[in-house]
Amino acid sequence: MGKKPEMLRRIGMVLALLLCVALVGSPAWAMGHGNKKPAKKAILLVTFGTSVPRAQKVFTLIDKAYRKAFPGVELRWAYTAKFIRDKVAKRGIVWLAPEEALAKLMAQGYNRIAVQSLHVIAGAEYHDLLRVVHGFNGMIHGFKALVGNPLCATTDDLRRVVKLVLAAAPKGRKKGEALVYMGHGTHHPGGVAYPALAYVMRLNDPLAFMGTVEGYPTLDDVKEALLAHKVKTAYLLPFMTVAGDHAMNDMAGDEPDSWKSVLEKAGIKCKPVLKAITEDPQVIQVWIDHTKAVMKHFK
Ligand code: CO
Repeated sequence: MGKKPEMLRRIGMVLALLLCVALVGSPAWAMGHGNKKPAKKAILLVTFGTSVPRAQKVFTLIDKAYRKAFPGVELRWAYTAKFIRDKVAKRGIVWLAPEEALAKLMAQGYNRIAVQSLHVIAGAEYHDLLRVVHGFNGMIHGFKALVGNPLCATTDDLRRVVKLVLAAAPKGRKKGEALVYMGHGTHHPGGVAYPALAYVMRLNDPLAFMGTVEGYPTLDDVKEALLAHKVKTAYLLPFMTVAGDHAMNDMAGDEPDSWKSVLEKAGIKCKPVLKAITEDPQVIQVWIDHTKAVMKHFK
């Protein structure tokens, strides 16, 4: 009587051992329902977009820099501005919204997505993106997407970007000539980045000023500061991802309410420069560093 249970116990142990070997040794078993899938990484670059073809060249620069920094990682783009997506669609160009691009990546089996906000500050577009990505994270098991900070998110970013931007200022600038940067501006709480940028600029260069098209500081604030400093000539430069519609029209246009017209009326000679801050590879590197910080979570 005593031998039979002992034998059964031994057979049970051998079976259990065999099962363990099968589980560890066979990927078919390990990949079964509920088990961890291998990481399939992708980077999704998300920008506002521009309908100005010439301004789109910075996207090519950014794309090239990313392919160099992250070789072998799937790279995709998405555009947050619906009216711009609709505009380029009429020319036969398909630009996806972030939610469309994420759905496509998810359907194709990508499960570790670094979503990089190519916005300048953490404003409305960036926060919309956070909400979209958050929704995707809860959708299916094993899918993880994280958002990389926009260009000027932390105070360290602000100081780094301002130094780079000022270093790339026009070489022909003479003593007493001012630099006026035009940011976009926003009603969103993230818009506090603009007066912060203005402050950091003035610390680095007493004649470098920052204003915004749609927020604070305003063009009037900039005009008053220029007059108080007795500035006679000012370079006008976009502090934006692209030198698109705002730069060409609101900043450098001939309409009576453009920055150029308003400042020239106040006796300040204007030299508009249609060059985006992102044309400097070192500025693109700031975004790349933000993406690297996200990719660290996928190791
Ligand atoms: Co705008």
